[in-house]
Amino acid sequence: MSTADRPRVPDSGAPAPAALAAEASALDASDPLAALRDEFIGSDTSLVYFDGNSLGRPLRRSASRMESFVHEQWGGRLIRGWDESWMALPFEIGDTVARAVIGAAAGQTVVADSTTVLLYKLIRAAFDLQHARDRARVEIVVDTDNFPTDRYLVEGIAAERGGRVRWIDVDRSSGVSAEDLRAATGPQTAVVVLSHVAYRSGYLADARTLTRIAHDAGALILWDLCHSAGSVPIRADAWEFDLAVGCTYKYLNGGPGSPAFAYVAARHQAALAQPIQGWMGAADVFAMGPEYVPADGMRRFLSGTPPIVSMLALQDTLALIEDVGIDAIRDKSIALTAFAIRVADALLGALGVTVASPRETGRRGGHVTLQHPAMRAVTAGLWEQDVIPDYRDPGGLRIGLSPLSTSFTETLHGMLAVRDAVEIESAARRP
Ligand SMILES: Cc1ncc(COP(=O)(O)O)c(C=O)c1O
Repeated sequence: MSTADRPRVPDSGAPAPAALAAEASALDASDPLAALRDEFIGSDTSLVYFDGNSLGRPLRRSASRMESFVHEQWGGRLIRGWDESWMALPFEIGDTVARAVIGAAAGQTVVADSTTVLLYKLIRAAFDLQHARDRARVEIVVDTDNFPTDRYLVEGIAAERGGRVRWIDVDRSSGVSAEDLRAATGPQTAVVVLSHVAYRSGYLADARTLTRIAHDAGALILWDLCHSAGSVPIRADAWEFDLAVGCTYKYLNGGPGSPAFAYVAARHQAALAQPIQGWMGAADVFAMGPEYVPADGMRRFLSGTPPIVSMLALQDTLALIEDVGIDAIRDKSIALTAFAIRVADALLGALGVTVASPRETGRRGGHVTLQHPAMRAVTAGLWEQDVIPDYRDPGGLRIGLSPLSTSFTETLHGMLAVRDAVEIESAARRP
């Protein structure tokens, strides 16, 4: 008997597991993206994957792309590959990210470095520009629940450049509101650094409104798009972003350590000087001149040799996203998170598990966080059974629902396993 069939007494009025299983099947049957799941390696096993928002599954076609690259491009073209295609790749893939994922015109996005390094380069460049234009602008605004790397970088840059950090204290089950940002910004603000989707709660910030508020205060804003790129529509140009950085190994399935992308609005490019002045960002890369002269356009945001091998797989997901469109992906993402919340309410509420993500559809990204004191042990137990969510302190189990590779039935199976694990852990903790 599968976990879905086990007889249980649900909360009064809540759907029973059998009814939820029927609902999951019906949702899969009517899902226009359902067939895409088969294109991912591992989707034909019983493993439940709830961590595509940390490291996406690989596409089958990426395995062939990587193999043929080694034989034909690397093995066949050798060093000639740089002139023939690799030098242009960071910009070509950047423009595809711009078109398919972040709503930007060409010439403003490049793929390079890790997210952390790109964040450092852009936040520091933006701080220096703002401070040079107006000495009173000494503050970098960031929220206390932003991803650790963003917070640590902001502290480091403020210390390095004689600035200050202005913290926005946020509730961990939500994120930065318009009122929060209005209160934290003013003539002293140089740069604002926010995440579009909060890594812990999944809160989806109102990026357009918050960008306008930062601009009204005379500040520049940098958006961390790691948890939204590939799951939530973004309109970087229309919403007048200044700067943005995002990961490619989450919803873009680029593989472990695949490089990040950086967006710099065309209107700022010439004025920004990024601090890691390497030869790949120079105006004439092979002139090997005595001093650094930055290139025009996005090349100036490069530093060293681009990680070409790590840029292969993400091209397959970008092609898939261009094909189906980010709006269809968002529709499925909303349906998946709504279903997960419905199952959590029906099966987990009585066990003391709460939903620590926004219930309002428009304020929720692609993952749902479930809160319970036993979640660390629950996560460890689930991994042993091939059910893979992740854990974030304090007591948060994240259910990451990658719209291209996750089915509703997989979601239900995983949630039933969470229920069983919470029950077992809770019983073990009872005196
Ligand atoms: C929101 C967010 N920002 C920044 C990072 C840092 O990325 P990296 O480790 O690739 O530098 C991550 C990594 O998971 C993240 O989730």
